[in-house]
Amino acid sequence: MSTDLGEFLGYAIITLYGLTVLNYFVKLANRKLRPQINKNKTFAKGFSLLTKFIVRNHKLFGLLTIVVLLSHAANQFLIYGISLTGGLAASVLILQVALGIYGYKAKKKGKSWLRIHRSVAVLLLVAIGIHVL
Ligand code: HEM
Ligand code: HEM
Repeated sequence: MSTDLGEFLGYAIITLYGLTVLNYFVKLANRKLRPQINKNKTFAKGFSLLTKFIVRNHKLFGLLTIVVLLSHAANQFLIYGISLTGGLAASVLILQVALGIYGYKAKKKGKSWLRIHRSVAVLLLVAIGIHVL
């Protein structure tokens, strides 16, 4: 158990979180910035590959956050004990992943599910901010 490892794992959760949230931003760019993207063929090709990578691996990145979270929490707990802000961020993260799995599995999820899943992503950013800053 080390403080460096704890820090590394903490930032790894944030990196994975960033990759999951890019799902929203790459889709938005594809919708709103089509003319600009298509101006340069090489860039358009690269952006299309990035989009596929981000969208196809969204569930994987989301699930991996839990694995890294558990490692970070165990490591930090053994060094520092309980962290209130860490527990709060973890609760929101677990809720978000549960929502993601529900949305993926549910046959009829409706429009509100995506709205909730997006909003909890913002809430999670706030919770992580409180924990880290
Ligand atoms: C979404 C979940 C979490 C994320 C993204 C996260 C991220 C981080 C990061 C990046 C750091 C390093 C901060 C720095 O060096 O300034 C950190 C520190 C720490 N984390 Fe977490 N963490 C999470 C959950 C937890 C949980 C569940 C615990 C419970 C034990 C915890 C306990 C700590 C402690 C004790 C520290 C070091 C002390 C501090 O700087 O406050 N974290 N975390
Ligand atoms: C850190 C965890 C996660 C975050 C922050 C997150 C965030 C997001 C965001 C912002 C969107 C909206 C994208 C858009 O507007 O189309 C989205 C969509 C979606 N998420 Fe997540 N998500 C997480 C985990 C998961 C997990 C674990 C699953 C399923 C196993 C999942 C399944 C989905 C599905 C099915 C969509 C609908 C659009 C699509 O398929 O790309 N998410 N997520």
